[in-house]
Amino acid sequence: MSSRMQSPEYLRTVHYRDSSRLNARAALWKRYSTSKGINAANWLFERASDMPNADLLDVGCGDGRLWADNVERIPARWNVTLSDVSAGMIKESRSNLEDSGRLFSFLVAEAASIPTGDSSFDVVMANYMLYHVPDVDAALAEIKRVLRSGGTFIASTNSTDHIKEVRDLQQRFGPDVSAAGSIGRLSSFSMESGQAALQRHFNDVKKFNDEEVLSVDDAEAVISYVLSLDGEFDEPSLRQFVEQKVGADGSFPITRSTGFFVARNSK
Ligand SMILES: C[S@@+](CC[C@H](N)C(=O)[O-])C[C@H]1O[C@@H](n2cnc3c(N)ncnc32)[C@H](O)[C@@H]1O
Repeated sequence: MSSRMQSPEYLRTVHYRDSSRLNARAALWKRYSTSKGINAANWLFERASDMPNADLLDVGCGDGRLWADNVERIPARWNVTLSDVSAGMIKESRSNLEDSGRLFSFLVAEAASIPTGDSSFDVVMANYMLYHVPDVDAALAEIKRVLRSGGTFIASTNSTDHIKEVRDLQQRFGPDVSAAGSIGRLSSFSMESGQAALQRHFNDVKKFNDEEVLSVDDAEAVISYVLSLDGEFDEPSLRQFVEQKVGADGSFPITRSTGFFVARNSK
């Protein structure tokens, strides 16, 4: 299902014009997640010593927090390029990395049209963004084009169960299509469908899952998360419902079901 959340124009000018929506969601994970650290960044940096010289590209980088949070772990001879369809996100990435003591390159670019030559990178990452692109196959073909032979592609995404309780709130208090839209959109590249999508372009695709249920004891944290999603919500009813549930049960459960794939490029 296509929606405005798969429109590069809408995403770059409205939803991801800046990182405010992303930050509202990240705040909840940061505060309540007890994740064991199974994520794409840790996978990459744990292998950093095996590739002291490397050219890397982060597609749909958002505000660049992956690099800012891990600056100490970046080998001295890595050349890292951050790209995003949103000029606002690239501006924030620049500013978040300007005092890092490292040089990064930046590109405002659509995933299906990366303005670099063939075989330019040893590693390409695309975290939580492939379900936003209008044509996943076109983006994967483009990523394969810019990857060197033997290079690694790392892609994070969510499973269809991810934030199912939040989707229920979307269904009750959000715009008519929001919950169905977010599931439909995810299906183009989810933890369930990603392997098959990647195998159309890459070899040796491995899958890593990370799942937990958060107990969120602050109603406001749930409400802010929901309001960061696309569309208009009936905020007073949402607020009343979540506050009542947290008052009665002590917390609101939120399922986090995410993960990533690692694929090799053999051209
Ligand atoms: C959910 S955010 C993820 C940001 C970051 N990768 C992270 O893991 O925090 C999705 C990002 O993908 C970008 N994006 C969406 N569609 C895109 C496209 N077609 N090409 C490039 N970037 C895109 C958005 O602007 C946004 O910054």
